[in-house]
Amino acid sequence: MKVGILLGSTRSGRQSHKVAHYLERRLQERRVATDLIDLAESQLPILEERSGRHPQLQARVQGLSARLREADGLVFVTPEYHGSFSGVLKNALDYFWEEFNRKPIGVAAVSAGKLGGINASTQLQHVILSLGAFPLPTKLLVPEVQSAFDESLQVKGENVAKSTGRFLDEYLWFARAIVEAKRAAPEQAA
Ligand SMILES: Cc1cc2nc3c(=O)[nH]c(=O)nc-3n(C[C@H](O)[C@H](O)[C@H](O)COP(=O)(O)O)c2cc1C
Repeated sequence: MKVGILLGSTRSGRQSHKVAHYLERRLQERRVATDLIDLAESQLPILEERSGRHPQLQARVQGLSARLREADGLVFVTPEYHGSFSGVLKNALDYFWEEFNRKPIGVAAVSAGKLGGINASTQLQHVILSLGAFPLPTKLLVPEVQSAFDESLQVKGENVAKSTGRFLDEYLWFARAIVEAKRAAPEQAA
C-alpha cells in the first residue's frame, strides 16, 4: 500500500511541513510506502481549468495527477487559516476528482493556537466527501506547532507522538480495509 501525504502549506516560514515529514517517517517505520507531495514544489496557478482540460498546464498537472493516482490512500496536511483549511490546498484539490475517488483520506491539521486546527479539519472532511472519497473520522490535530518540534525536526514531548500513533493506527486500519475491499471486488472499484 502507498500513502500520499499532500502538504497544503506553501508559506515562507511555514510549520506544517514538519508534521508532513513526521507523518512520513512514522509511516515508513511501519513499512508503508509514502509519497510526500509538497504543493510548494508543484506551483499550481489559481485554477483556470481542471486536470485534462487545460492546454498549457498539462505536464505539471499530469505529473501531480499521476502521483495522486498512484497513492492507495492520502493524508492531507493543512494549516488552519482564518478558521478553515488553506486556500492553496483547496485550489489544488479543485484540479482533480477521479484521482481521489473512493480513496481513504485522513486529515492532519496544524495551528499556532491551542485548538490544533479543529475548524480546518472538520471543513476539510466535508470537502473530502465531495471528492467522492472516504474521510477518516479520526483526525490528527497539532496545536502550538511552533514549539512541537526541535531544530532537527524531532518531535518534542509525548503529546504529538502519541496522537500521531493513534491517528496512524486508525488510518491504516481504515485504509487497508478499503484497499482489501477493492482487491476483492475489482469490478466495483473505481
Ligand atoms: C493567514 C493566516 C491565518 C491564520 N489563521 C489562524 C486561525 O484562524 N487559527 C489558528 O489557530 N491559527 C491561525 N494561523 C496560524 C497558523 O495556524 C500557523 O501559521 C501555523 O504555523 C500553521 O500554518 P503554517 O504551515 O503556515 O505555519 C493563521 C496563520 C496565517 C498565515
